[in-house]
Amino acid sequence: MSSKPTFWLRCEKKEFERRSALTPTTAKKLIDAGFEIFVEKDEQRIFDDSEFEAVGCKLVENNSWPSAPTDVPIIGLKELPVSKEPLPHTHIQFAHCYKQQGGWSEVLARFHNGKGTLYDLEFLNDANGRRVAAFGFHAGFAGAAAGALALSARRQGKPLGLLSPYANETAMVNAVKEGLGGSGKGVKALVIGALGRCGRGAVDLFRKIGLDEDDILKWDLAETAKGGPFPEILDVDIFVNCIYLSSKIPHFITRETAIAAGKSRQLSVVVDVSCDTTNPYNPIPIYNINTTFDKPTVAVDVGPENPPLDVISIDHLPTLLPREASEQFSSDLLPSLLTFPNRSSERVWVEAEKLFKEKLGEAAKAEGLA
Ligand SMILES: NC(=O)c1ccc[n+]([C@@H]2O[C@H](COP(=O)([O-])OP(=O)(O)OC[C@H]3O[C@@H](n4cnc5c(N)ncnc54)[C@H](O)[C@@H]3O)[C@@H](O)[C@H]2O)c1
Repeated sequence: MSSKPTFWLRCEKKEFERRSALTPTTAKKLIDAGFEIFVEKDEQRIFDDSEFEAVGCKLVENNSWPSAPTDVPIIGLKELPVSKEPLPHTHIQFAHCYKQQGGWSEVLARFHNGKGTLYDLEFLNDANGRRVAAFGFHAGFAGAAAGALALSARRQGKPLGLLSPYANETAMVNAVKEGLGGSGKGVKALVIGALGRCGRGAVDLFRKIGLDEDDILKWDLAETAKGGPFPEILDVDIFVNCIYLSSKIPHFITRETAIAAGKSRQLSVVVDVSCDTTNPYNPIPIYNINTTFDKPTVAVDVGPENPPLDVISIDHLPTLLPREASEQFSSDLLPSLLTFPNRSSERVWVEAEKLFKEKLGEAAKAEGLA
C-alpha cells in the first residue's frame, strides 16, 4: 500500500440502497488532491464501476474491505450487515447507533473488540453545530414529486402505486409532468419549513414541474407563529411538511379540520417529509404509519362523502434520486474528507471521535465489556 492518504469506498449491503458516500466527481477531486482511492465493485451502486475507474480509482472486489490493511479508512454510507465480527478499521458511515437504536451496543461492541474507530456521518458538524452533509434537499425534492404523482393518480380515481428510483432528476421531473398532463401549472402547493434543506428541495421540484410561483406557498417559522390548525392547508392540492420538529407545537392540520372542510376541500395529498410519525408532538396527527415505496400512501379516514385525502410518510425519500442525492451529499462532505489526514487536530473529526469514544464507553458498559 502506498504512503498517500487513502480512502476505501466499500459496497453497500442495505437493501434498495443505491446511493454512495463517494461519487466519481468527489473521488476525482480527492485524487487530484493527492489521495489514493480504492473502490469496491458494486452492482447496487447507482454509479457504474467504470465511472470510478475512469477518474483514476483502483477497483477492488465487492465486500473485500475486511482484508484491507487496517490503517486504510473505510468509507460507506449505511449500516454494515449485522455481525459480531470485531472491526479493526476506521469507518466513516452512518451507523445509527448513538441514540440507543435497536442493536446499538452490539454495533459499538464490534469497534470495542476490534479497536477500530467510527466517525458517524450524522455527527460531523461545522463550527455552528450544523451538519456538514445531509440528504435533506433531495428528500424534499423527491417528496414533492411523490406528492404530485399521488395527486395525478387521485385525479384518475386511484391511489398512487409503486415508486421506484429514478435514473436522474430530469427523469423524475418528466415523469411527474407527464402524470399531470404535461405540466404542473394550476396545481397549488404549500411547503412548511420552506427555508430548510428539505423545504428548499420541495419548492425546487414544484418550480421545475411548472407551478406558478404564486401557487407555491412557502412558510417557515414566521408564518406558523400564529399557531395552527391552519385552514390555508385545506385550500391547496398538496401540502408538504418539512419542518425540523424540536418542541411541542400546535397541530398544523387535524382529521376534524379536514372533515369539517367537507366536499369542497381542495387538499388531496399531505407529504410528511419530516416523518415525525411516532413523535408525540407530530403536528400532523392524521396518520400513524410510515409508508413505503411499494405502498406510498395511507388514506385518512375523512368519511365516504368527502374527497379522499392521502398521506405520504416515507422516511428514506432521497433513495428515489440516488445519483443527485449522492453527488450533493458527497460534495458537501468533501471539504471535511480533504482534512481527514489531519484528523487528530481538525475540529470536525476531533469532535466526532470524542463522541464516538463517549458512546463506545456507554456500549462497553451495556455489553459488560468495560
Ligand atoms: N423523509 C425523509 O426521507 C427525510 C430525509 C431527510 C430529512 N428528513 C427530515 O426532515 C426534517 C427537516 O430536515 P432538514 O434537514 O430540512 O432541516 P432544516 O433544519 O434544514 O430545516 C427545517 C426548517 O423547518 C423550519 N421550522 C422548524 N419548526 C417550524 C415550525 N414550527 N413552523 C415552520 N417552520 C419550522 C426551520 O426554521 C427550518 O427552516 C427533519 O426532521 C429530518 O429528519 C426526512
